[in-house]
Amino acid sequence: MASFEDRVVFITGAGSGIGRESAYRFAAGGASLMCTDVDGDAAEETAANIAERGGTASAMKLDVSIEDQVHAALQKTAQELGGLDVVVNNAGVGGGVGWETTIDVNLSGVYWGLFHGAAMLAERGGGAIVNTASIAGLVGLVGPPAMQDEPIERGAGAYTAAKHAVVGLTRQFSNTYARRGVRVNAVCPGYIETPMTAEVRGIEGGADYLASLHPIGRLGNPGEVAAAVTFLASDEASFITGVALPVDGGYTAR
Ligand SMILES: NC(=O)c1ccc[n+]([C@@H]2O[C@H](COP(=O)([O-])OP(=O)(O)OC[C@H]3O[C@@H](n4cnc5c(N)ncnc54)[C@H](O)[C@@H]3O)[C@@H](O)[C@H]2O)c1
Repeated sequence: MASFEDRVVFITGAGSGIGRESAYRFAAGGASLMCTDVDGDAAEETAANIAERGGTASAMKLDVSIEDQVHAALQKTAQELGGLDVVVNNAGVGGGVGWETTIDVNLSGVYWGLFHGAAMLAERGGGAIVNTASIAGLVGLVGPPAMQDEPIERGAGAYTAAKHAVVGLTRQFSNTYARRGVRVNAVCPGYIETPMTAEVRGIEGGADYLASLHPIGRLGNPGEVAAAVTFLASDEASFITGVALPVDGGYTAR
């Protein structure tokens, strides 16, 4: 596993699922972590778990959809932890919360982390950014048969629109910052066993249907995405920038 000794990692949505597992993996590599989440208690819990295992982690309540909060949180991280080397824009919501909230969190939230994070990393001499996009950033989604006849809700398509835009922002910022030492990449997970997918996994036949969409024949686990996140953020990926890496058991290869 790559070393993150003497590196400071800022991560959003660190209170659950993929963000929490990524925080654990960065910490295992020796990073100092700033765990942030709109659920401040969950972020604290992640940081406490890291500290219990002998790692270094602080926590902060942060709503990524609010630009000023994101900017202030990045600055506070650099001040408190003595640097900033990696920014992981991971926080997200499922599409069921409607158009505005999905776009505010899943698109604008990533944008603020990129806009302020890339500038800060460049100023400090370089670094890496990893955005959590989705297979929905590369293709459209098809719901389980039991949900396909439901009326289209107002926010339909917002999740796919936001995630496609995250892939676009990843490419744009990677070009803009390549010569300033900042690499910008994205992971595109397939369906992963986290609280976000609990509802659809819970409907009759839901889990089997979702598993059938992945040629590997199962859903992923958050640790498998965290492994890709930490790789892209590490020096092992020093010549990789602007990629949207599927971590999807073959979902987008079909
Ligand atoms: N689970 C999947 O199948 C899957 C697949 C592809 C992509 N993703 C993406 O992975 C990322 C992490 O999702 P997960 O599956 O770990 O879900 P999760 O629900 O377990 O975790 C998401 C975290 O984001 C936090 N969050 C929500 N809104 C926020 C906001 N406004 N500001 C800050 N934090 C906020 C939540 O409190 C939660 O802790 C999301 O961007 C999601 O879209 C998930």
